[in-house]
Amino acid sequence: MQKLEVLGANKLKGQINISGSKNASLPILAATLLSKKKVYLKNLPRVKDIETMLMLLESLGSKIKKIKGKTVIDNSNQKKTFASYNLVKTMRGSILVLGPLLAKFKKAKVSSPGGCSIGVRPIDIHLKALSKLGVKYKIDQGYVIATAPKGLIGNSIRFSKISVGATENLIIAACFAKGITTLSNCAIEPEIEDLVNFLIKMGCNIRWISKRSLKIVGIDEVKETNYSVMFDRIEAGTYLIAAAVTEGNLTIKKIIPKIIKTEIDMLKKVGAKIVIKKNEINIIGKKKINSININTAPFPGVATDIQAQMMVLLCKANKRSIITENIFENRFMHVAELNRMGANILINGKKAIVNGNTIFAPAEVMATDLRASVSLILAALTAKGKSVINRIYHLDRGYESIEKKLKKVGAKIRRVN
Ligand code: UD1
Repeated sequence: MQKLEVLGANKLKGQINISGSKNASLPILAATLLSKKKVYLKNLPRVKDIETMLMLLESLGSKIKKIKGKTVIDNSNQKKTFASYNLVKTMRGSILVLGPLLAKFKKAKVSSPGGCSIGVRPIDIHLKALSKLGVKYKIDQGYVIATAPKGLIGNSIRFSKISVGATENLIIAACFAKGITTLSNCAIEPEIEDLVNFLIKMGCNIRWISKRSLKIVGIDEVKETNYSVMFDRIEAGTYLIAAAVTEGNLTIKKIIPKIIKTEIDMLKKVGAKIVIKKNEINIIGKKKINSININTAPFPGVATDIQAQMMVLLCKANKRSIITENIFENRFMHVAELNRMGANILINGKKAIVNGNTIFAPAEVMATDLRASVSLILAALTAKGKSVINRIYHLDRGYESIEKKLKKVGAKIRRVN
């Protein structure tokens, strides 16, 4: 199994180009299933989760080619409606094919993704909302078997809880539902905005009618479309924190700064010096880091996907910080490993009490999920000596060329088998 060796501690200096967003690409790729025309996508990140989604689409009958940096998806002969456990089990985002398959074929059999290391992660909100569009479903041997005997029919749906995936599944499905659908209490993450922009470009009739509500008028057909996926705001946030934690000086490029305002404000509060330009940010990390309390929340709150990385930074703060994880029930698995590297973090239910003034020490540690993996790299970058991070396959699911990008700015990092 592959591992990463990190030899700290170096101040990171230079420029990093941010890749396309994994979490925007996944629903957009699922939404291409609506189309019988070609879709040309630019800026898909080269990460494992995107490979998995492309494999899932191919297993459903999509024809996919890469031409001059664009991924061309041809669903003109796509006819299958079965998404197997083998593909879905490795990535929960696979459930996003359920909505478009039902919209297009009135039936689908999609493996239920089950739980994962960060929590139970049910799909009840997706299913309840789809049933309001006329979908009948049962769960049989781990599969969601769903039909829409009369096709999808528009309705008013209010999500009982804000869910990124359920909002995406329903937006895509409703594009082909007969009549008008209104969705309220929607997630409004920038990746959802990107999905909506993509669907509008395909010809779908979608309009925001209030901050968390959308009105969708069903259509029958979409047109050939070219689209460039937005930047990965979590990757951008991760490298901003890498600069702050190593007291480095990084310019993060190919981004839209206003989309990561929450992260920028948070980093300013802890004391980093930040200069914002049109499509880039320069950050200089300071020796003194101020403690802050953080509550993860749906956008525009602090993203749960940046919690582990911020925790590493707050370990080095001058005082105690409290991080409250409000989205997932089991997302502090990095804590035990960070404590092995010298941190002093206590967990009390959904709160992590991060006692500051940590000087990280190198250690051999184990990654447990995508963002936990990267938090261990951040800690290792600041620890003097050699750290080894095991189980890095989690990392490859969501960070494009991470060693290459970090090496370019002065990190001593290498992958070993
Ligand atoms: C997406 C992101 C993930 C991010 C998360 C929260 C993708 C591919 N993944 O995951 O990186 O951490 O948003 O920002 O975009 N829930 C239910 N029932 C449901 C659906 C969700 O109870 O049917 C719960 C979840 O267990 C969780 C909360 O709602 O506690 C939010 O989950 P959700 O927003 O749906 O996350 P994902 O879409 O799975």
